[in-house]
Amino acid sequence: MNLLVIGTGYVGLTTAVSFAMQGHHVTGIDVIEEKVKLLQQGKSPIYEPGLEPELQRALTKETLAFSTSMAEHVGEADVIYLCVGTPSGSDGFADLRYLEQAVETLRTFVQASEREHVVVIKSTVPVGTSDRIAAIFAEDKHVHVVTNPEFLREGRALQDSLEPSRIVIGADRKEAIAIMDQLYAKITAPRVYTTRTNAEMIKYASNAFLATRISFMNELARLCHTLGADIEVVAEGMGLDSRIGPEFLGAGVGYGGSCFPKDTEALIQLARRHQSSLSLLETVRDVNRSQVDWFVERMVETIQGVRQKRIALLGLSFKPETDDIREAPSLTLIERLQKEGAILTAFDPIASLHVKQLYPNLSYVSSPYDALKNADAAILVTEWKECVQLDWQRVKQQMAQPVLFDGRNAWPAGFLKENGFTYLGVGRHA
Ligand SMILES: NC(=O)c1ccc[n+]([C@@H]2O[C@H](COP(=O)([O-])OP(=O)(O)OC[C@H]3O[C@@H](n4cnc5c(N)ncnc54)[C@H](O)[C@@H]3O)[C@@H](O)[C@H]2O)c1
Repeated sequence: MNLLVIGTGYVGLTTAVSFAMQGHHVTGIDVIEEKVKLLQQGKSPIYEPGLEPELQRALTKETLAFSTSMAEHVGEADVIYLCVGTPSGSDGFADLRYLEQAVETLRTFVQASEREHVVVIKSTVPVGTSDRIAAIFAEDKHVHVVTNPEFLREGRALQDSLEPSRIVIGADRKEAIAIMDQLYAKITAPRVYTTRTNAEMIKYASNAFLATRISFMNELARLCHTLGADIEVVAEGMGLDSRIGPEFLGAGVGYGGSCFPKDTEALIQLARRHQSSLSLLETVRDVNRSQVDWFVERMVETIQGVRQKRIALLGLSFKPETDDIREAPSLTLIERLQKEGAILTAFDPIASLHVKQLYPNLSYVSSPYDALKNADAAILVTEWKECVQLDWQRVKQQMAQPVLFDGRNAWPAGFLKENGFTYLGVGRHA
């Protein structure tokens, strides 16, 4: 089939490459010329494991191309994916301006086309948005609007795209469902066929629920810290219950990224707009917002203040295996520690350049050991393997004081304490 993917960010680029790998002919469209030029040369503007080689392979096989011009490609597209960003607006509600602009431009071209098109909304949009878009195309009988939310995890985006946990198809016409089934013919995954409204809600509910698990564990970890219990053992014991399961029970410095903070906030605001409230989710958000503060307070207690102390930050991206720093806890930590007068040196395998643009006044180094040199304390912010699997003897030699703050509960707490380190995790008492 011929596909057009509008927006070539984390989701759009992955979608484009993954469908090209499945034998479809895909054109990725973006408004940013430099991005399109890079992509045409086979260079990925984002870091995602395995993405760049597959991008290059698909370009060579000519199953994938990139352009800035929607006009040239709409006419030949069976399926048109909308993957533009839907960031938080100033009121916390999803800012739909990119989507609305893309739909407006798209409409002029599909109106001029005689081909049957399925327009698929993959961007995460507030419940009701897809039906509004369907109404815009109501007179264009050859256009079907489908909601097909994305559940990929950054850091394993391509794998998730090829082996999704489920495919949710929100559609109201049989013809559209048949085309979507044909499109996904090579993917084995449970499918949910439903309304566009339900599909939109499934996406928000999934992210809100995962965020809830994290905040629940983080709040519990604070109590564990006070009571002398160990949240890691508690999580292990809880996760063995098949009704709970072991995933997303990790305590830490809080969730970040381009999805959980913005999508929970958008859902809270959506409820408010409809005179309803999601008080549980509001608390989830508030716990997350205060988690870094809680951790910094425990650090300050441990080393009697951070003023003029040299602190190594290990990891900056919001999670390992991505260069994405949107809403990363590292940014809040930097703000907070700089305000307290700490002297920061940061290491990240991939994301340093992005953070440097926001915070040019701290030192960025290219190895964890360089960050640890003469440090009075180190913080594990992102559990990259480069930051977790360290030569502890070397770490001890490098540091001025062997003080470790484990913001991801990923370092070997018991071993470190036995070997003369001062160790503080999030609710750990190993
Ligand atoms: N990143 C994730 O992990 C993830 C996961 C699931 C769902 N989502 C959702 O998918 C959507 C996209 O997220 P993302 O992280 O890929 O965003 P992104 O910011 O990385 O990419 C968006 C891209 O769209 C382009 N764009 C904007 N307007 C355009 C237009 N009119 N025409 C063509 N291109 C245009 C931008 O230039 C950018 O390259 C969002 O709604 C997000 O919530 C993201």
